[in-house]
Amino acid sequence: MTEDVYRLKSPEGVETELPVRKGTVGPDVVDIARLYRDQRVFTYDPGFVSTGSCESDITYIDGEEGILMYRGYPVEQLAANSSFIEVSYLLLNGELPTEQQLSEFDNTIRMHTMLNDGMLSFFKGFRYNAHPMAMLSAVVGSMSAYYHEEMDSSNPLHRDIFAHRILAKLPTIAAAAYKLNSGQPFIYPRNDLNFTENLLHMLFAVPAEPYEIDPVAAEALDLLFILHADHEQNCSTSTVRMAGSSGANPYSAIAAGISALWGPAHGGANEAVLNMLEEIGDVSQIGKYVEKAKDKNDAFRLMGFGHRVYKNFDPRATIIREMAHKVLKQLDRKDTPMFDLALELEQVALQDDYFVEKNLYPNVDFYSGIIYRALGIPTSMFTVMFALGRSVGWTAHWREMISDPSGKIARPRQLYTGPVARDYTAIEER
Ligand code: SDX
Repeated sequence: MTEDVYRLKSPEGVETELPVRKGTVGPDVVDIARLYRDQRVFTYDPGFVSTGSCESDITYIDGEEGILMYRGYPVEQLAANSSFIEVSYLLLNGELPTEQQLSEFDNTIRMHTMLNDGMLSFFKGFRYNAHPMAMLSAVVGSMSAYYHEEMDSSNPLHRDIFAHRILAKLPTIAAAAYKLNSGQPFIYPRNDLNFTENLLHMLFAVPAEPYEIDPVAAEALDLLFILHADHEQNCSTSTVRMAGSSGANPYSAIAAGISALWGPAHGGANEAVLNMLEEIGDVSQIGKYVEKAKDKNDAFRLMGFGHRVYKNFDPRATIIREMAHKVLKQLDRKDTPMFDLALELEQVALQDDYFVEKNLYPNVDFYSGIIYRALGIPTSMFTVMFALGRSVGWTAHWREMISDPSGKIARPRQLYTGPVARDYTAIEER
């Protein structure tokens, strides 16, 4: 039996035993909490490549094997058999619901979809072409202005109400942002529609005529939301945990997560992939752009490729690619050149030594935009769609963090490389 400690010896010979902690599956962790006290040194890991920030029961990823599980259930099985509302219940509560639990949860979400009408007035203040991610983070942040009384984080009922409001109201806010951009009137939610049908209705219905929901579109969106629902300690989820660790209002923590997701290195990549495909334009240009992506002196990267954790195929990308084929066929879309271009780009990159040696594979963002575009969703709304799926993951992680009795405020240290102490000089002497 290997000893469950790592022994660290300083250059001066001071020894520290660092305990090893084991999870149910995946890499062990070395607990370094006592390191600074014993050795007066910090660890150093910019970007947290090798750092575990917390203990979690929610999602497990194996980057080498391309494994993703929500509460132990492989994402492939949930994608094939479940719904986003059922997966949301699973992520929030840890177990799949009974029929009655699912019905009650689904009904609760339907009953929370409306916004306080005062919140709608915020949209009158945005320019018509404001980016919907900016509007989403701003209006979600304003929820902390409406709900700061009933937000005692130590109260399980308040934590449930928070989860229901985030899950139910983000689609309404997202659709309101889209309607502002499109110059159309805001469409109120309908409680007789399920989660994705309601979103399609609020996005695409107009008062002038009836709107018929396409079941293919509703099914495709539901699957995309399942695949985007959670992903361990990614940048935006870690942001939510860090902001929430100070005891800040959780709506503000979710707004911080939305802002972090917006970056093109993270959830903003799905919008960047479509912009990149449009820039490449034609399969004849693929070679030129693949060379640009490999050129260290060129800032261009192949958007939708590579991942901090997956050094194999992102299991979500595989499912989304197959779904893209199906959706384009079912919608009888002729304008598939963008999809054909993406397929060809993937083939070229995966046969190039640079991408093979660096384990750069398509990630969740590479194909998702093809489907959103086929459903009539504009590129500027792609990361908003990512946020709608990830909202339940952020909420589940916030609840896990805030319920941890040993929880502390997140406050990392640094390696200081600035000037040593020096005296102030009068301006005449400078
Ligand atoms: C998401 O963390 C999550 O789980 C995120 C996410 C989730 O569900 O929450 O999965 C969602 O954000 C997916 C990733 C979306 N981003 C993109 O598609 C943007 C393009 N990809 C890259 O920017 C990059 O791959 C990252 C940001 C995703 C990962 O970057 P890392 O882990 O910090 O790796 P790195 O930047 O150090 O790259 C390692 C090497 C570098 O070359 P060297 O310095 O070793 O010579 O690979 C190269 C990079 O230059 N590289 C790329 C590349 N990605 C990495 N080269 C060309 N094109 C790329 N896309």
